[in-house]
Amino acid sequence: MTAPQRLTLRTPDDWHLHLRDGAMLEAVARATSAQFRRAIVMPNLVPPVRRSEDAARYRDAILAAVPPGQAFEPLMTLYLTETTEAEDLRKGWAAGLVTAVKLYPAGATTNSDAGVRDLKVLDAVFETMAELGMPLLIHGEVVDPEIDIFDREAVFIERELKPLRQRHPGLKVVFEHITTAEAVAYVESEGPNLAATLTAHHLRLNRNDLLVGGMRPHHFCLPVAKREAHRLALRRAATSGNPKFFLGTDSAPHLVSDKESACGCAGIFSAPVAMESYATTFEEDGALDKLEAFASEFGPRFYGLPLNEGTITLERTEDPVPVNWATPLGDVRIYHGGEVLPWRLVGDAR
Ligand code: NCD
Ligand code: ZN
Repeated sequence: MTAPQRLTLRTPDDWHLHLRDGAMLEAVARATSAQFRRAIVMPNLVPPVRRSEDAARYRDAILAAVPPGQAFEPLMTLYLTETTEAEDLRKGWAAGLVTAVKLYPAGATTNSDAGVRDLKVLDAVFETMAELGMPLLIHGEVVDPEIDIFDREAVFIERELKPLRQRHPGLKVVFEHITTAEAVAYVESEGPNLAATLTAHHLRLNRNDLLVGGMRPHHFCLPVAKREAHRLALRRAATSGNPKFFLGTDSAPHLVSDKESACGCAGIFSAPVAMESYATTFEEDGALDKLEAFASEFGPRFYGLPLNEGTITLERTEDPVPVNWATPLGDVRIYHGGEVLPWRLVGDAR
């Protein structure tokens, strides 16, 4: 069979995205709106997006940053704290303003200091979410300093996620940006109200890509990439056609100067090449026929939202990906920058 030269897909959505605010938001919004119709927008700003009224302001800022004529719908999330009120969630949900709530264990990642230390204090909030059908999005890593960073996701499943889901079996949960075979197995073994997102970069990078031959700060993100066996388990899940696994880039822009530093920030900026990267991975695994469902169907089905109507087209290219994305604050390294990927989005924003 000859390889296709063009690929037309139902317009996809990104179910996990960092857009930042201010000048960075202005600079990066078009990278996502060129590729995706909707995105679940992470609330880890400084200060975090904690209440419905914060989400309303942030949504307006995002819409103002999207280039005119590009239909893009930000799906807003609230940052769960130990003082989150069920009543505010109800209000945000009823107004169509809040799509989901994000749980960061305190200190787990960039701007997560306000996160949750004890999940049990939020049982009333989780009951309300279960009743509404509002998903809880989880950054699943323990923060216990005794636990090795490469084990933090697997330990989270046992210590936090299983007990939480036992206490709230009706709660819809997205286990975000999973990086381990343990997470794949757990999601596969559970019922339909547990799903997981997979990033483009965790399907391609293992921990050698981070550390062998020199430290590669642009491959550093959280959760950190694991051993090769885990990467292969993620690829099998992504290309399996199982609707419990869908696309979420976790695209997270940081300035080059903040990444190439003595204490480099975690996060990979993949938005400008997201669909190109996923298409490359699926093609390598002989699974291009599974890409559309992963990118454009399983996510909306889990969230109970309609599928998008339009399409996007990818075409063959031999041009390298640009190295950096310019912003008024400085350059941001683009994931795959300088590499040749075989696909390019028609009408891309790079
Ligand atoms: C994210 C960021 O920079 O906001 N970083 C990352 O490595 N993924 C935070 C997160 O999602 O953990
Ligand atoms: Zn993230």
